[in-house]
Amino acid sequence: MATALKFVAPENKAKTFIEGKHQILINGKWVEAASGKTFPSYDPATGEVIAQVAEGDREDINRAVSAARTAFESGPWSRLTVSERGRLIWKLADLLEANTEEFAEIESLDNGKPLKVARAADIPLAVDMFRYMAGWATKIEGSTIPISVPYTPGTRYLAYTLREPVGVVGQIIPWNFPLLMAAWKLGPALATGCTVVLKPAEQTPLTALRLGELMQEAGFPDGVVNIVPGYGETAGAALAAHPDVDKVAFTGSTEVGRLIVQAAAGNLKKVSLELGGKSPNVVFSDVDLDSAVAGSASAIFFNHGQCCCAGSRLFVEDKVFDKVVEGVAKKAEKIKLGSGMDSNTDMGPLVSEEQLNRVCGYLDSGLSEGAKAVTGGSRHGDKGYFVKPTVLVNTNDDMKVVREEIFGPVVTAIPFRTSEELVAKANNTEYGLAAGIWTHDIQKAHRLASQLRAGTVWINCYNIFDAALPFGGYKQSGWGREMGREVLEHYTEVKSVCTPA
Ligand code: NAI
Ligand code: MG
Repeated sequence: MATALKFVAPENKAKTFIEGKHQILINGKWVEAASGKTFPSYDPATGEVIAQVAEGDREDINRAVSAARTAFESGPWSRLTVSERGRLIWKLADLLEANTEEFAEIESLDNGKPLKVARAADIPLAVDMFRYMAGWATKIEGSTIPISVPYTPGTRYLAYTLREPVGVVGQIIPWNFPLLMAAWKLGPALATGCTVVLKPAEQTPLTALRLGELMQEAGFPDGVVNIVPGYGETAGAALAAHPDVDKVAFTGSTEVGRLIVQAAAGNLKKVSLELGGKSPNVVFSDVDLDSAVAGSASAIFFNHGQCCCAGSRLFVEDKVFDKVVEGVAKKAEKIKLGSGMDSNTDMGPLVSEEQLNRVCGYLDSGLSEGAKAVTGGSRHGDKGYFVKPTVLVNTNDDMKVVREEIFGPVVTAIPFRTSEELVAKANNTEYGLAAGIWTHDIQKAHRLASQLRAGTVWINCYNIFDAALPFGGYKQSGWGREMGREVLEHYTEVKSVCTPA
């Protein structure tokens, strides 16, 4: 149990938190699940249970939605000025930043990612997201609109729009960036004045619960954000189908994305989806190959490949194919696998046994169909959920490893000759989340950026995120955008007002 865990300091806040009680946050109170049930959260480096967490289900979701509804309609939140709202969000960012180390340790233990990565990326990006959205709270505006109305000649009108919060929002998030996904979802909801029921992923509920404590400390009124940990099929499904939820925002698998859409049909709640990907990352022969190789390796291996935007199909111009593949394989072999809490670790375990089996299943399928692993190709060790960083070649377009999202440290390398051939192949996917282009030919880069059907295109870089830059998918990678000005549209309704004047 928790006492066997290795912490950076023997007595620290992360340890105290993990060893404490993990309940459901409803209307400002921490409560047990109505059913009294709990579920385990694991350290994926060892497979050991690190915490028991209250297991919310339909009943708890109903209570949480009711609290969010009251907070939205008549609670103090509904009367705050936009400036007060912005200041609360900013305060949350400050508190989170001040507790970076604690959050990074909890995240590393619950998810498996290296502590140094959580410290450098996950937590600061979440802080930034809250700060960016705090700024928007005071800048969400309607407009005045000159109108003519042909059937009321001679009458002048004053017409304007108001941008109002969409209402009670259900937010269902995944386990790959647990805290950051919570921040991407909560930031715009709070900036626009919505209230929330958040369901963290069952694999990684802990940082969201700790964030709930910080929200109380910051002074958010009761019921503004309710947090219900639990399973997708129970708590998640109840939230997506709830008739009193005005909008559901989901990040996760395309398969569950479809279920969310069906569940939302009952009351036609608004839906935004951030789903899977099979993103092409393209290397041309004219580029500085060292940086393209390093960038392409990190495009797939960052976060153990558990990124919706992972550069999982590496397209390389044929004359440099062998060189680039060899370079990426060498980088893969240098990656040190281990517990996220070990400071030497470059790559931790996958998040769960289920993901380990899923990724190994893809490897077996690819290899049995004739793909060749230049490096990796199997599980690493027999304890914890580690997979060797893998580069596959000799694939064809029909293989599952080329078509489906693997969500592990596995890249398929594919040669191409012409840009035309490349565009057709790169777009030959049901997904459209992201793409990478490595070339020094400026025209080629921008032409290709417009030809690729993807919500984000990185040129001579990869995995560059900022709270101001919209992110989301074409095709079956999703509906809508997260971050930037664009996300605010999904959390607001536009009201047109007009009067003779
Ligand atoms: P998932 O889509 O099942 O889980 C994501 C979230 O949805 C979790 O909070 C889960 O509890 C919830 N959920 C599951 N079933 C639900 C339902 N019927 N109704 C409402 N909510 C539900 O993803 P899972 O099973 O953890 O991973 C499977 C695959 O999904 C991965 O291998 C990867 O390909 C993809 N995935 C994509 C992510 C992304 O960032 N786009 C994140 C996580 C997974
Ligand atoms: Mg699932």
